[in-house]
Amino acid sequence: MERVIALLLVGLLLARGDLLERRCGECHNRIQLPLKPLFFDYLLHYSSERGVKGAMREQLLNPDPERSLVKGRKIYRHQVDPDELEIILQIYWNRYKVIGRIR
Ligand code: HEC
Repeated sequence: MERVIALLLVGLLLARGDLLERRCGECHNRIQLPLKPLFFDYLLHYSSERGVKGAMREQLLNPDPERSLVKGRKIYRHQVDPDELEIILQIYWNRYKVIGRIR
C-alpha cells in the first residue's frame, strides 16, 4: 500500500513538472528563449521568490513592454489561466532555485 502511494506521488510530481515543459518549455525552446536563462534574469533582477513570481505573474497576465526583461523581441501575449499559472510558477521556481542559491 505504501509503495502504491509513493508511486502515485512520484507520478503526480512528474506530471506537474511536465506541465511546465508542455505549456511553456516547448514554445520557449522553439523560439530559442529557453526557460532556464530567463529564470536567472528574473532572479538577478528581483532576487526573492516573491519578487520573481510576482513579476512573472504580472508580466504574463498584463504584459508591459517597459517592464520586460527580454530585449529585442515583440511582446508576446501569453494566454494562460491564472490558477494554472500559479502551479506553473511554483514548478518553475522549484526547478531552478537550488542552482540559484549556490551561484
Ligand atoms: C507560443 C509561445 C510561448 C509560450 C507557449 C510561452 N511563452 Fe513565454 N514568451 C514567449 C515569447 C515570444 C516571449 C518574448 C516576448 C515577451 O517578453 O513577451 C516570452 C517571454 C516570457 C517571459 C519573459 C517576459 C518578459 O518580457 O520579461 C517569461 C517569464 C515567460 N515567457 C514565461 C512563460 C511561461 C511561464 C510560460 C508557460 C505558462 C510561457 N512563457 C509560455 C513565447 C511563449
